[in-house]
Amino acid sequence: MKELISAALEARKNSYSPYSGYSVGAAVLCKDGSIFTGCNIENASYGATMCAERTALFSAVAAGHRDFEAIAIVGGKADETDLPYPCGICRQVLSEFCGRDFRVIVARSTHDFEEHTLGDLLPYSFSL
Ligand code: THU
Repeated sequence: MKELISAALEARKNSYSPYSGYSVGAAVLCKDGSIFTGCNIENASYGATMCAERTALFSAVAAGHRDFEAIAIVGGKADETDLPYPCGICRQVLSEFCGRDFRVIVARSTHDFEEHTLGDLLPYSFSL
């Protein structure tokens, strides 16, 4: 988990967030042990903004991965660190590929974090 949080902290450095000043980094752990990272990427047309979690998950899927174990998320205003719980859209997107046991780690640092499951964060999720 510490390695995954470190990868998210590193990815956060690439956050493009001039509008909110809230920078987020995420790292997804695939079942084969590979890690994909992402950051939030904002847009002047605010609704076009992409969250860090989806950037990370989509880059993993685009590289051919569909089996996931965990995600670590870090973020906050400027250099501060919050506990950045994933937004509703990201929870729904995670539920497309990940089961109820998928681990969601929200972290302030490698030694200060909470661990949840996707099932806890998104009960009764929508699926077709
Ligand atoms: N953000 C994320 O990257 N992940 C979330 O789950 C919630 C919000 C980003 C989007 C936007 O760039 C900034 O945080 C403030 O909403």
